Amino acid sequence: MDKDIFILAIESSCDETAAAVVKNGREVLSNVIYSQIDIHTLYGGVVPEIASRCHIEKINPVIRKALSDAGKTLEEMDAVAVTYGPGLVGALLVGVAEAKAIAYAAGKPLVPVHHIEGHISANYIENKDLEPPFLCMVVSGGHTHLVIVRDYGEYEILGRTHDDAAGEAFDKVARAIGLGYPGGPKVDKLAKEGNPDAISFPRAHVSGSPLDFSFSGVKSAVLNYLNGCRMKGIEVNRADVAASFQKSVVDVIVDHTMKAAQMYHISKVALAGGVASNSALRSAMEQACRENGCSFYRPSPILCTDNAAMIGAAGYYDYLKGVRGGLDLNAVPGLKLGQR
Ligand code: KG4
Ligand code: ZN
Repeated sequence: MDKDIFILAIESSCDETAAAVVKNGREVLSNVIYSQIDIHTLYGGVVPEIASRCHIEKINPVIRKALSDAGKTLEEMDAVAVTYGPGLVGALLVGVAEAKAIAYAAGKPLVPVHHIEGHISANYIENKDLEPPFLCMVVSGGHTHLVIVRDYGEYEILGRTHDDAAGEAFDKVARAIGLGYPGGPKVDKLAKEGNPDAISFPRAHVSGSPLDFSFSGVKSAVLNYLNGCRMKGIEVNRADVAASFQKSVVDVIVDHTMKAAQMYHISKVALAGGVASNSALRSAMEQACRENGCSFYRPSPILCTDNAAMIGAAGYYDYLKGVRGGLDLNAVPGLKLGQR
């Protein structure tokens, strides 16, 4: 029997300081997340400088807790995996510098991990049978990518957003209807009390690119609707706005994913990224997959939003492939999917 591989994973690309210990890429021994949401809420969004400072304060205790929750020591780790992009440069640098220091001091290999590959790999954790190839719809705060995972670490991008990411649209609409930050979960919650068919917001398609996305139009339509109501003195039903906006975004995401599954003859469909924790999206995608004969995979909500367990999952497959970072590893804020 092959030796077990233990990865210490570190994630600090945005406003979560996270560390995890993952065994053989699929078994999470610990998953510690320190969320900075309470601090950034005061400013209505993530303040990069504050995020970096919080990471510096929390990263050591978070890593220590990840090892102790797992009942493991640093010496027992086979490698240290870290998110090196994309994300906020100052935030990423904290994790990268920490991982380099630990890897050097403990004499362990350093594995640089792509944040979006991490989101996609979150699907491996609870679906032990999931193997590439499969289709994955990545919907996060900064990214909207429809991809075929051809093999571990090999991606073919079928569609992407031309403007706002899906999560960004949720956050902007949440702000417009006075829900504040973080918007996505608040819209999700309020939408449960509203009528998704109350207001007809546009389902934006990009002409000539049937699998691409555009969410700035629906965001503007919501803003125009709110302004119109204000000018006419009509009271806004915020729950109806949330539900109708959410439906227009979910419809397009599900429609494009199913179109891609048919075009490329793929019957395994996965969701990834923070917006993948949206309850309406999860149930609509599940139903569409059932109707189209596809199997549906999605991580638990806690593994959809930023965490280090997903970095440990992606890092394991990178480790097996021999991907290594040197002590000159740098943060790459604009790192593209499939780029090293
Ligand atoms: O993947 P993630 O944690 O960070 C990035 O890599 O961007 O995604 C964060 C995004 C935010 O825009 C947040 O509002 C959105 O995911 N989000 C949601 C929900 N939970 C988080 N959007 C809709 N519904 C949710 N339940
Ligand atoms: Zn993320």
